[in-house]
Amino acid sequence: MTDTLHSEVLTGGVEQRRQLVTEVPGPASRAWQARKVTAVAAGIGTTLPVYIERAGGGILVDADGNHLIDFGSGIAVTSVGNAAPEVVARVQHQVAQFTHTCFMVTPYAGYVEVCEALNRLTPGSYEKRSALFNSGAEAVENAVKIARRFTGRDAVVVFDHAYHGRTNLTMAMTAKNMPYKDGFGPFAGEVYRAPMSYPFREPAPISGAEAAARAISMIEKQIGADRTAAVVIEPIQGEGGFVVPAAGFLPALSAWCTAHGVLFVADEVQSGFARTGAMFACEHEGVVPDLVTTAKGIAGGLPLAAVTGRADVMDSVHGGGLGGTYGGNPIACAAALGAMATIEQHDLVGAARRIESVMVPRLQALAAKYPQIGEVRGRGAMLAIELVELGTTTPNPALAAALSAATHQAGLVTLTCGTYGNVLRFLPPLVIPADLLTEGLDILETAFATVTAA
Ligand SMILES: Cc1ncc(COP(=O)(O)O)c(C=O)c1O
Repeated sequence: MTDTLHSEVLTGGVEQRRQLVTEVPGPASRAWQARKVTAVAAGIGTTLPVYIERAGGGILVDADGNHLIDFGSGIAVTSVGNAAPEVVARVQHQVAQFTHTCFMVTPYAGYVEVCEALNRLTPGSYEKRSALFNSGAEAVENAVKIARRFTGRDAVVVFDHAYHGRTNLTMAMTAKNMPYKDGFGPFAGEVYRAPMSYPFREPAPISGAEAAARAISMIEKQIGADRTAAVVIEPIQGEGGFVVPAAGFLPALSAWCTAHGVLFVADEVQSGFARTGAMFACEHEGVVPDLVTTAKGIAGGLPLAAVTGRADVMDSVHGGGLGGTYGGNPIACAAALGAMATIEQHDLVGAARRIESVMVPRLQALAAKYPQIGEVRGRGAMLAIELVELGTTTPNPALAAALSAATHQAGLVTLTCGTYGNVLRFLPPLVIPADLLTEGLDILETAFATVTAA
């Protein structure tokens, strides 16, 4: 293996070396955190309160000068790396030209170019249209609006363990109560939850086709196909635990949707843009959605989101029915064009596959040594381990938290997720240098030894 996983290290000028000069968090970060507590609403949590001053490639540099290895990418956002050169150059150019006009008032080229790129890159060779928004939740909300308008139906089907956002409608669509929904209801109506294919947690093995039949039966009996506007699903679930449905589940659902005039909406907010070793995770199973929602990795860290899909569906909405003041902001669009160019020019789809080929054998070796790892799963650079009590499938969130904390102390940023909080997930930037990837895995291995010995 060479020392890079892609054609060139995109470092953003940051030295690609882990280095701890204080404990984590150090005194400067602790001082900021003390100010945070008195200035920022308590509901805004922080996973690892190190205050970042610079970042690039696979490294985050904090206020104390610690260089931390990044296995989080700001929750799957900086796939092209922080401050990726093509993003920086285009943003700098754009910000000096103009910062905002509102596309709905006096439009500009960048918005159109982003929509053209999305129409080209998303699955499906049919004619498409796109609309741009600010966040993943906003994209999901708009996909539901569009689906209801096109079909004239109300019901929306989502799945166990789903995460679609924190607005009122997307809270209704999100499965997990704490911390996302608790005390925030009542929630939007006409949202129905179907059983997911979660192979590790099935009481008995069941195929993807059988799991789809189970979900379809629920939809037909409890809602009715002719009342259902859309089935909205993450092809690989993100916050719910990096759940990869059994092979055949997504194609069977998609086929049922097509047969019944129900729109199949792929929420690729977390799994999109090369993250899983395909441009979009749907492609792993040849599924072509009617609508795709995207955000996160789309713009190298600037806030942008989109709904892309069939032209007849997208264009069914009356003029002025979609939009928002900031949606498709010119600077975010410039960043997106830079991020998409970086993904294509540097073959970051291939980089994600190479990350998988390095990480999965190491994680499987860990699983062989530590039976508390119930499952290693994911695709590309969207990988996770599910932690259980020894000899059972009982979730072990305490172990996930302890491992995550131990990696943080050692200068590796990891995140947890999962309905049961027992999944440790790995989302390195796709431009991470190979030696940092290996060092991160070494830190994880040491964390296992330390935490399980305690
Ligand atoms: C699959 C999925 N959909 C929607 C969202 C919401 O995106 P945002 O936080 O940008 O609103 C997320 C965020 O994690 C997500 O993972």
